[in-house]
Amino acid sequence: MTSGPDSGKQMKIRKALERFEAYGWETPTYEIAEKTGLPPEKIVRLDTNTSPFKPEVALSDLARRLKDADVNQYPDTSYHALRLALAAYTGKDKDRFVVTNGADEGLDIITKVLLDPGDEVIIPTPTYPMYRIVSQIMGARIRAVPRRGDFGLDVDGMLAAVGKRTKVIFLCNPNNPTGNFSPEAEVERLARESGVAVAVDEAYFEYCGRSAIDVTDKLDNLIICRTLSKAFSLAGARLGYLVAKRETVDELNLVRPPNSLTVISLMLGQTALTRLGEMKRHVGATVKERMRLYEGMKSISGIEVFPSVTNFILFRVKNMDADRVHASLIRRGLVLRNLSAVDGVKGCLRTTVGTPEVNDRLLDEIDRATR
Ligand SMILES: Cc1ncc(COP(=O)(O)O)c(C=O)c1O
Repeated sequence: MTSGPDSGKQMKIRKALERFEAYGWETPTYEIAEKTGLPPEKIVRLDTNTSPFKPEVALSDLARRLKDADVNQYPDTSYHALRLALAAYTGKDKDRFVVTNGADEGLDIITKVLLDPGDEVIIPTPTYPMYRIVSQIMGARIRAVPRRGDFGLDVDGMLAAVGKRTKVIFLCNPNNPTGNFSPEAEVERLARESGVAVAVDEAYFEYCGRSAIDVTDKLDNLIICRTLSKAFSLAGARLGYLVAKRETVDELNLVRPPNSLTVISLMLGQTALTRLGEMKRHVGATVKERMRLYEGMKSISGIEVFPSVTNFILFRVKNMDADRVHASLIRRGLVLRNLSAVDGVKGCLRTTVGTPEVNDRLLDEIDRATR
């Protein structure tokens, strides 16, 4: 074969990406509709832990102000107004935030600031896959420390795994996909005794109500990562934030891109953060439904259900192939997350808590599919 611009492969990807397992993109709804023959509007996504409720207050406020929106200008790249709203929401000073394009960009910023190729990252598993992904993209190695049988943290095991090249411990709290919370004292102990950065992803904080955010007042190696994608119903607007000590925020800002949020999402975020009534109502409704769904699932004999302090519930399919149950639910228009092959949650599926109607349907269909 000759070499030249039109023959063979000229581009060479980075070494760190040669055996890299990319994010498992969710199958788009239109593809599920094509496969199942169901109309797209009959397909319910229960695989991404988003809110079933629209942020009506923020949307109608945006609609009113939209014609004057300064979309011909770049956003204020210091995101000052949003940081003021975050300060009022969390009680922390406005200089303690890095505003990000969703929590995922926050995770990315953390790894870009802290990881050189060959460094190590400790991740208690099973958990949200982005910690592994953003770390491996930087060329870091993952040391997975399995959670205990009850999904609690093996804090001693995590501390014992800290080595010379360890730079970050990622922690999802409450944890996705298991739904449990690890006490603030365990987070503080990890941060104090590990001597490395501890990044705590609190994407589901509002459903649980507990947080290690106050520990960031004391320790400069603790970074809290949050999102408006879940409780605030703004997954499509892409708004997240990091909270840390001011010196740490200065370092995180070294790599923050200047314009990753849009003028439109900033408007949505500011309204959502200052008029909290709607979010609180939605969280209250979801928590109530979570408890009802959990009780309903407990009475289905074909599954084992795990307690949750989030807006999703994990369950294990007992005497059947979980892949088949997952596929059978999809044929009925209910798309759950299939975790059947994931270490620590083998044979498990995860569902988002939906509206009362969807949850009733879900209970019927899980019962039918596991008989
Ligand atoms: C634990 C966790 N962190 C972060 C995210 C992504 O958040 P964002 O939409 O803000 O990027 C998710 C989404 O499911 C999540 O489960």
